[in-house]
Amino acid sequence: MCGIVGFAGHSEAAPVLLDGLARLEYRGYDSAGVVVCDGKDLNVVKTKGYVEELSKLTDGGKTLPGTVGIGHTRWATHGQPTDTNAHPHLSFHGSLAVVHNGIIENYAKLREFLIGKGYAFKSETDTEVAANMIDYYYDDDILKAVAEATRRMEGSYALGIVCKDVPDTIIATRKESPLVLGIGDGCNLLASDVAALLRYTRNVIYLEDGEIAEIKADSVQLYSAELERIEKPVSTVDWDVSAAEKGGYEHFMLKEIMEQPDAVRKTISPRLKDGRVVLDGIRLTPEYVKNLHKIYIVACGSSYHVGMVAKYNMEKLVRKPVEVALASEFRYCDPLVDENTLVICISQSGTTADTIAALRQAKKLGARILSIVNVVGSVIAEESDDVLYTWAGPEIAVATTKAYSTQLAVTYLLTLYMAEICGTVTPEKYDWAVRELEALPEKLAKLLDNVDQIQYLASIYFNKEDIFFIGRNIDYALSLEGSLKLKEISYIHSEAYAAGELKHGTISLIEPGRLVISVASYTPLVPKTVSNIVEVKTRGAEILSITTEENAADLAKVSDNMIVIPDAMDLFLPSLAIVPMQLFAYYVSLMRGCSIDKPRNLAKSVTVE
Ligand code: F6R
Repeated sequence: MCGIVGFAGHSEAAPVLLDGLARLEYRGYDSAGVVVCDGKDLNVVKTKGYVEELSKLTDGGKTLPGTVGIGHTRWATHGQPTDTNAHPHLSFHGSLAVVHNGIIENYAKLREFLIGKGYAFKSETDTEVAANMIDYYYDDDILKAVAEATRRMEGSYALGIVCKDVPDTIIATRKESPLVLGIGDGCNLLASDVAALLRYTRNVIYLEDGEIAEIKADSVQLYSAELERIEKPVSTVDWDVSAAEKGGYEHFMLKEIMEQPDAVRKTISPRLKDGRVVLDGIRLTPEYVKNLHKIYIVACGSSYHVGMVAKYNMEKLVRKPVEVALASEFRYCDPLVDENTLVICISQSGTTADTIAALRQAKKLGARILSIVNVVGSVIAEESDDVLYTWAGPEIAVATTKAYSTQLAVTYLLTLYMAEICGTVTPEKYDWAVRELEALPEKLAKLLDNVDQIQYLASIYFNKEDIFFIGRNIDYALSLEGSLKLKEISYIHSEAYAAGELKHGTISLIEPGRLVISVASYTPLVPKTVSNIVEVKTRGAEILSITTEENAADLAKVSDNMIVIPDAMDLFLPSLAIVPMQLFAYYVSLMRGCSIDKPRNLAKSVTVE
């Protein structure tokens, strides 16, 4: 969703802002803008459209001289995507400009208050309200004005502010929306996402809720919300700039699919020591794990689908009840959660608004929170009792692939870890599982050699307008993800069903020529799925099956086409079976000419409810 970039240095700011905004494009947006201080004035250029348009309007930044500035990509919430509603917003008196991510929930009340004080507004946005609130409290101390104004704002915000009277400075602050400072050589930067900073520095400071930063070319001073000076450590990001570039691939999505063996290896290997799963970072005591009454997994979208796989695996191996909830539902369903419940929040970005709300609610009810997150320092990571990071590196394509796979990998580790504590896995099975986990990256790499076949299958099926996915147990969880991947980037209508549910309604949609993708990797239920395949085949459906070597002969009898994945312990099959579905979605979308990395209407991180 919205992105923020700021630069204070000794060289021109505008080209850096444009480059940083381009690197945040993947988050999804509909308008963009920059403001640069030329030492005297604040010069704003903004447009309903993309960063490329902004670059044209400013001749690559040349028409905006000055060494300090901030930029923004906006994903419309309050007000249509228009030039006027785009950020930055100048305050009524023109003395300061603001960019903002998040939603100021009491903006209508504040707007009314400001109108009563003689302020007028040009846009419909909550951001212009923020700019004027700061303006209202501004005397000659911009820091104090920001502290006073934000004290009165409810909701979430990451703010970048420049002020005419202090033309060498950017002020930044946040609440529940990420902001990271980049500590450079002769320059300092600000961004909502490290991807925008990597070209300039890997030394960063993560700003926390309520903290305020004063950023100049040669210094960064941090303050608490009460304006006391504070010190914070500088961390080093170990992603390099190439991690956020396409590296020769046509799309980030394909690059990220191909990176999966490595990402899964990085996520698993450090946590396997001498044949044991070692989760150093977390503080779940064996007593706590043994006494748990229930595990709740809360997430959205693909992360929720990971939760579905985890439920099947954990219940099988840990023998504790596991509920999986969509965060957007959990937060309003008065959930049965208490101190004997472990709530696992899964989120790639760590900033998904619904998951954050669910986390806070669960915490209030006394649950312990363990999160599985990819972005270090994100809100969900910070607010959890324990964090297990996925080491996927930056994921740029909107449709998740490697983050999904690394999330799965973490759930496997956690499942084995808890099963060992609870004594619900035999030593033989545990050792076998560890060996299988070690072998997983290699098997993934082998699967990715099979791209030609999937390209061919995509060329047969890319014109279909309805595609069904069916499966049972973990294969049902995978069907949900396969279907989501396909529909979100190809815009083909697709549904996923538990194969046994077909007869209860959906089978009426099956007609000659309908493509049904059957996921049949879980051996104990393959005969059942085969029966369901026969049911749809008799009604004219074409069948594309995804199955294992072990089950290939049975599936061959009922399928028109087949993708065969390597055999593996059933717990880990989802990691393998999802790869052909990701590639299928990718190639179908490519053949349909879709915008693969940035599908319409979607944003990478969903920071609004
Ligand atoms: C789909 C996809 C989304 C995300 C969902 C949750 O490809 O990426 O469904 O999984 O928006 O996002 P995170 O994991 O960042 O909380």
